[in-house]
Amino acid sequence: MTQVIVALDVDTILKEEELLKRLKGTITHYKVGLRLFTAHGKRAVDLVHHYGGKVFLDLKFLDIPQTVAHAVHESQRLGVEAVSLHLWGGADMIAAAAEVAPRPKLWGVTVLTSLQNKDIKVFNRGAQVPSMVKNLAKLGWVHGIDGIICSGQEVAPLRKSLPHLDLRFIVPGIRPAGVVRNDQRRIMTPGDAARLGIDRIVIGRPITMAPDPLKAAHDILREMVDASPSALEAT
Ligand code: C5P
Repeated sequence: MTQVIVALDVDTILKEEELLKRLKGTITHYKVGLRLFTAHGKRAVDLVHHYGGKVFLDLKFLDIPQTVAHAVHESQRLGVEAVSLHLWGGADMIAAAAEVAPRPKLWGVTVLTSLQNKDIKVFNRGAQVPSMVKNLAKLGWVHGIDGIICSGQEVAPLRKSLPHLDLRFIVPGIRPAGVVRNDQRRIMTPGDAARLGIDRIVIGRPITMAPDPLKAAHDILREMVDASPSALEAT
């Protein structure tokens, strides 16, 4: 079953509330990310809860182990369902975050879906996105994270190359056919995500910037049901 998380990448509480009102009853999982959280902090999280939604706090933690562990602890106090961290932060950082108890689910970013091979060459001339995603996914899983954030294009190769790991996938970079891809590069359609049985997809602008966000959400859910009738967990 594939669950849809709508990224509330807006700049005001007013716009956030408009979206929550429009999507109520259709979408129950939301992402509060850097923009909204930097602008409005806890208020933005509380508003989603007020509308009965669940929050994925996507602040992509990357720091020394103790700092990240403290941030995970504070996220728990916010009542969010999940938080993200960059797996590039290394084994000790991931383990310190995973050891926090109780804590929200931890979802680890492998390589941002806006990056391509040419972008990661700065770290290593021979670096390739697929192998870097695989290594980071494995590192995260071994040290206790609950889900891997990667491109939809990497899900099947990861399942194949790491068959012994029970990986859960959270996939941004989702674009219905014909919709502008914006700054995203490694993209996938909602239908293909459903067909692959990806656990959760994160989708922002195709819904939040649409002239009618509710219709856009319904169209996406319809595409997913058509692609895989049993695959949808929309709410
Ligand atoms: O608007 P769009 O659908 O591109 O939004 C995707 C969301 O997923 C954004 O909020 C972005 O921060 C997030 N994300 C991503 N790539 C990752 C991790 C998170 O695009 N690797």
